Amino acid sequence: MLVIVNDTYDPMSKEAAKLVADRLRKKPNLVLGLATGSTPLGLYKELIRFHKEEGLDFSKVTTFNLDEYVGLPPSHNQSYHYFMNEHLFKHINLDPRHIHVPQGMAKDVDVFCSWYEQRIAECGGIDLQVLGIGANGHIAFNEPGSSLGSRTRIKTLTGTTRGDNSRFFKPNEDVPRYAITMGVGTIMDSKELLLLASKTGKAEAVKAAVEGPITAMCPASIIQMHRSAFVFLDKEAASELTGMYNDTWESKVFA
Ligand code: PGA
Repeated sequence: MLVIVNDTYDPMSKEAAKLVADRLRKKPNLVLGLATGSTPLGLYKELIRFHKEEGLDFSKVTTFNLDEYVGLPPSHNQSYHYFMNEHLFKHINLDPRHIHVPQGMAKDVDVFCSWYEQRIAECGGIDLQVLGIGANGHIAFNEPGSSLGSRTRIKTLTGTTRGDNSRFFKPNEDVPRYAITMGVGTIMDSKELLLLASKTGKAEAVKAAVEGPITAMCPASIIQMHRSAFVFLDKEAASELTGMYNDTWESKVFA
């Protein structure tokens, strides 16, 4: 695991974007796993800039998003599908046929989840998976207690997560109770992981994930078992860590 600490959110996002762009230049048909939430927004902004100013080409890229709320159609402005369109997809030259976001309106969720796993496999597996981390240590919607071997499935969101996400919903709108999420095992099958965390609200979860014991009570702690995981932090998110870390991912050999 490589932990890369930048002073603030902007340089952290730019550093992470350089890694994604590097992988995409080396493999134009990259299979890219994507995350929603506020944290990856700076990374997406920088990827859009690379596309517009430097011609970074997404035409052969295939994407798989981590999760989606059950019951929200892609047109709902709080669905993750809508979020991805607004913040990334519509600004770059991705082929819409190569975009995969879990279907919150799937008639048979179990059948959909099996299909999603199968589709990832058919595309050769995820090359690089972008991840955020919840204040409670979740990755995607794998809440504390999730099986560390889990696959794509429906999960009930915890009160903490629903509370954290209520800021995006109107006061009279109910935050969904269920989501379809890639499992911890699905995420761990990705060839590389890129986890981003920013601000002090994430410091304890980052400490638990990076330096704590590996436990289902902090699903993000499983990244310690991944052979190629990058953790991009700003100083606030790294403030509880005691180890010595890097400020760049370039020219570093994996440990
Ligand atoms: P955030 O969410 O980026 O909005 O903080 C991250 C997550 O819950 O995984």
